[in-house]
Amino acid sequence: MTEKNRLDKRIFELHANVCKTLSHPKRLEIIDLLRDEKEMGVSEMAEKLGITKANVSQHLSLMRQQNIVKTRRDGVAILYSLANPKILVAYDALRKALKEQLEADGKLLENFNMNSNSTKQHWEKIYQTKDTVREVSWYQDVPKTSIDLILSTGVDKNANIIDIGGGDSKLADKLLELGFKNISILDISAKALEKAKTRLGEKGKSVIYIEADILEFDTESRFDIWHDRAAFHFLTKREDIIRYVEIAGKLIKPSGYLIISTFSMNGPKKCSGLDITQYSEDSIKNTFQKNFSHIKSFEEIHATPFNTKQNFLFNVFKRR
Ligand SMILES: C[S@@+](CC[C@H](N)C(=O)[O-])C[C@H]1O[C@@H](n2cnc3c(N)ncnc32)[C@H](O)[C@@H]1O
Repeated sequence: MTEKNRLDKRIFELHANVCKTLSHPKRLEIIDLLRDEKEMGVSEMAEKLGITKANVSQHLSLMRQQNIVKTRRDGVAILYSLANPKILVAYDALRKALKEQLEADGKLLENFNMNSNSTKQHWEKIYQTKDTVREVSWYQDVPKTSIDLILSTGVDKNANIIDIGGGDSKLADKLLELGFKNISILDISAKALEKAKTRLGEKGKSVIYIEADILEFDTESRFDIWHDRAAFHFLTKREDIIRYVEIAGKLIKPSGYLIISTFSMNGPKKCSGLDITQYSEDSIKNTFQKNFSHIKSFEEIHATPFNTKQNFLFNVFKRR
């Protein structure tokens, strides 16, 4: 080892020791008390920090060993000050970085809440103002493909099934008619769920209605079937898509099924006036590949109530 290497190693060791000594909030507070070349005795520090004198002395003793503070006798009093005021430069730089990070986190949270609120407002307005049979493009009288895919998994009638972004869809009606007993409908819109609840009436009394943004959803329940028709594709930010995949991965039982349909590459680029992400078989496989085995994908044309056509991609995955 060269002399320079030896010196570098020694500096790393000293650096680590100083960091270790400073890894206590009270010791960091002591540094702050001693800024601007202040000198202070143990009693004054104890009062300012709200801890006992014995406690302050322990901290100061450690800080002295690492040459962070030094002492000076003034009559009977022992006064402490910073041994090397340059330590404040590092201290302040770290605090500034942490403060910036906290502010950035705060902004992220604010953005997330803003997005979530505006998504909710959009969907509440849709369900408050539109007739869900005649005036929304996604309406289906019988969600036949979804039902066929659910039946093709062979799950029994006690299977725990959730319809993500189920809105006012008739999927739950058909599943109940088929004898399925454990059905949940999740939607961001309270109005959509209210419509579904009113329509299902007495026969839907066992249904669990969950008003939530899927990106904030968590539960103790685990699902045998996770169905999503035209809700996932509204996620256009990478971090939101990753979050959805993680949530589905967590909440679908091992060997459970994910039945998910989106607009295909030949489908519209918007839905309900909002941007969506189109998927191909390859891109959806890639999106869910971490936790899911791909079973099949196929395209299907949906005829809207306005006699236009929308190209959907249906996909079935199995949770590994
Ligand atoms: C195009 S509609 C499809 C409704 C239903 N799946 C169907 O096939 O009839 C999309 C649905 O997803 C819901 N939705 C949109 N973003 C959501 C989110 N982040 N979390 C939960 N639901 C959401 C909407 O309120 C709406 O009911």
